[in-house]
Amino acid sequence: RPRAAVAALVLLFLAEAVAPASITRRDFPPGFVFGVGSSAYQVEGAVAEDGRKPSIWDTFTHGGYSIDQATGDVTADQYHKYKEDVKLLHEMGVDAYRFSIAWPRLIPDGRGAVNPKGLEYYNNLIDELLGYGIQPHVTIYHFDFPQALQDEYDGLLSPRFIEDFTAYADVCFKNFGDRVKHWSTVNEPNIEPIGGYDQGILPPRRCSFPFGFACDEGNSTTEPYIVAHHLLLGHASVVSLYREKYQVAQGGQIGLTLLGWWYEPGTQAPEDVAAAARMNDFHIGWYMHPMVYGDYPPVMRKNVGSRLPSFTEEERERVKGSFDFVGFNHYVAIYVKADLSRLDEKLRDYAADAAVKYDMPFLKSSNQFPLGLTNDFMSSTPWALKKMLKHLQVKYKNPAVMIHENGAAGLPDPSGGNVQDDEFRSQFLQDYIEATLQSIRNGSNVQGYFVWSFLDVFEYLFGYRVRFGVYGVDFNSTARTRYQRHSAQWFSSFLRGGELRP
Ligand code: NOJ
Repeated sequence: RPRAAVAALVLLFLAEAVAPASITRRDFPPGFVFGVGSSAYQVEGAVAEDGRKPSIWDTFTHGGYSIDQATGDVTADQYHKYKEDVKLLHEMGVDAYRFSIAWPRLIPDGRGAVNPKGLEYYNNLIDELLGYGIQPHVTIYHFDFPQALQDEYDGLLSPRFIEDFTAYADVCFKNFGDRVKHWSTVNEPNIEPIGGYDQGILPPRRCSFPFGFACDEGNSTTEPYIVAHHLLLGHASVVSLYREKYQVAQGGQIGLTLLGWWYEPGTQAPEDVAAAARMNDFHIGWYMHPMVYGDYPPVMRKNVGSRLPSFTEEERERVKGSFDFVGFNHYVAIYVKADLSRLDEKLRDYAADAAVKYDMPFLKSSNQFPLGLTNDFMSSTPWALKKMLKHLQVKYKNPAVMIHENGAAGLPDPSGGNVQDDEFRSQFLQDYIEATLQSIRNGSNVQGYFVWSFLDVFEYLFGYRVRFGVYGVDFNSTARTRYQRHSAQWFSSFLRGGELRP
């Protein structure tokens, strides 16, 4: 008898050891937050309603610069459908909804008068979420810079941005901070300077050098660094304000959200390994290094030289430690190779400063992007998320991290119907959630995970040609009908305690 019992136990033990461990959300640390996200210009619509004025994105899309001339004029129409949307969020079972406040809706001229209708909308949205017990995680600035300020002083190129941004954030804290406990100052300040001031493919369409392919103004190669400097100082100023005036009373957390592409060497040759490390310094270190150590990464100082702005002692102190958590929007690995010859170029763009060239891009058929792709054209590289989290742990003192975006792009249903069978997306998300858990078990301080995106929305570079939503939106119907995809069903069952891989 006892021998049989021991044998049975041994067998059980062996079976446990070989079977893949099942994962549920109970494996995550207590308080870990699962959510989905959006941003104002991409989801709200109602761009000319109730006193909202244009942002640089309205100017860009109405100027005909977006793909298919797509705009955010109506998009998923969340401005009118927020109640229905919050109900869907509740049905899905998320802990949190990440959304952004539209600066030109709240303060239409960018500075000065606050729009009562803007206040009302965000108050309603926040209250509706809280009514269902869903935490609002709010981004203060997500690319939709007020056109009025752009016209007045060249927007982010001017240090005047810092003061106006801080005043705008003050309005947010004052009016919403009693209920919002999770603030991100800026979304992806490490891509806006490149898209908008280096490559010219995003508003305000400026280029580092005269032969940028999408812009008509050639500028000095200094601009991306100036813009990033102002965004960083603006962020730090907003965090100081929050800490001095609101944080103790309101008890919230504040950080910022970076684009967390992970750069991987194109080959294992030492120069390519060094190139990938350089690129991670240029892209992630651009913000992390000053926020943790008080200055830009040494390799940026070396390669960019006098074109890289300096910090005064006061600025350095303000920037250092200016976060409770850092948000990362992580999608894929990007491969790079060394190209040291670019450092000899007189007119250098950002990639030339980093002395890299991009290799093996992350899309399976990038030469056709975004045309003629299959539904799962984006590579899935969950190992890259683990590498990035490890890098943060080792290089930047293991900060608290929110994965603010992770998700997979699909295509609209070519038949004109609504694609609901997005198993590829469920699979993608499962792989990345598992990678997140493994990183936590290896010591990373990850505190939340948000799927991008809740709904199909206007996508900045690709309009409506790609879809990220776990809920689809029928853009052909004036009602902008939502429909549940496989991934939403799967996520919901996981959130309710089901297995990660049912
Ligand atoms: C980055 C941005 O924050 C978001 O606005 C965008 O839609 C997604 N990633 C997907 O590209």
